[in-house]
Amino acid sequence: MFATSPQPRMGRRSSAVHLSQANRQPLRLPHTSPLQGEAVPSLRPIAAGPDAVVIAAPAKLNLFLEILGKRPDGYHELETLMLGIDLFDTLEVKSIPEPQLRLECEPVSLSNGPDNLAIKAAEALRRQVNRPDLGASIRLTKRIPTQAGLAGGSSDAAATLVALNHLWKLNLPKADLALAAAAVGSDVAFFLDLPAGWCTGRGEIVQPEPLARRLHFVIVCPPIGLGTADVYRRLTVPASPLSGEAVRQALRNGDLEALGRALHNRLQEPAFALSPPVQDLVRQLTDLRPAGGLMSGSGSACFALCRDRDDAQRVAAAIRVRLSQGAFSSTRVLVVQSLAHDDAS
Ligand code: C5P
Repeated sequence: MFATSPQPRMGRRSSAVHLSQANRQPLRLPHTSPLQGEAVPSLRPIAAGPDAVVIAAPAKLNLFLEILGKRPDGYHELETLMLGIDLFDTLEVKSIPEPQLRLECEPVSLSNGPDNLAIKAAEALRRQVNRPDLGASIRLTKRIPTQAGLAGGSSDAAATLVALNHLWKLNLPKADLALAAAAVGSDVAFFLDLPAGWCTGRGEIVQPEPLARRLHFVIVCPPIGLGTADVYRRLTVPASPLSGEAVRQALRNGDLEALGRALHNRLQEPAFALSPPVQDLVRQLTDLRPAGGLMSGSGSACFALCRDRDDAQRVAAAIRVRLSQGAFSSTRVLVVQSLAHDDAS
């Protein structure tokens, strides 16, 4: 089994705060791809009654992540290519008259306190506009695995910013939302620029990246999460960082084989050292001969880049068989696809 001591993926219990009578029932959506193949309203708030919206917050994958150096503030200067995928959390956000920020989570084991990035985002926005009088009630339905390198919490934060900018009638431009996003976390601003972005600085400087075609992936999420800070602590900064030109060019050209060859993640080595079974998952995926295989972000989720949807189904079926025979039987296997320019607001 996993060699590292298990890290809890969830935190405090939630207190029940409901948005409205109409919204009392949690959204019952499948774990993956609830809107697969359709236009996906990522980070586009949909009206859900007076003063309320529903918003879908997608996960991301890193197709390339290189470290350029350590900064005086303790963060690392990096270059990363991020891609939104159709695996979503859902947030129901309501503006309330009381100057409070309330959060209810499903599952209830998820933290609903000030450490939750959705609350941090709402606080950052109130601070930015100097309006401590503003209030919101948020119901978060979590489907994106936590501590997986899929940035579910960051995406929830970005969705909260977009929803509250609308509900609180702030009309802040994207550049101002990006400032609040950067105050919450390094990955948050990317979700304001879906579907693909070349991210630099500590990750918060985002250049939208053209995407020639939808991409198909199989994601495997082992039952053990990895803490981002733990992985960075074990990192050796490379003397000669790799260039991301090849991966960007392959993405622009829609050249899957070149993209597969150019996949790279400098955080794999420290993550593998922390949790050797994650390395084995990448090896098992690449053994199945997809276009490429990699760990996402700081892990622990790994993915196979597949040639089309059928190839993704083939890889998913094969990896499920392999995992069921080994020590990885509780690993989740998801078939997803990238978002596209038409999907994003
Ligand atoms: O920005 P965020 O809160 O997501 O970062 C979590 C942790 O990951 C940081 O506290 C830091 O230890 C590490 N990190 C880093 N360099 C980055 C991004 C994150 O060292 N560019």
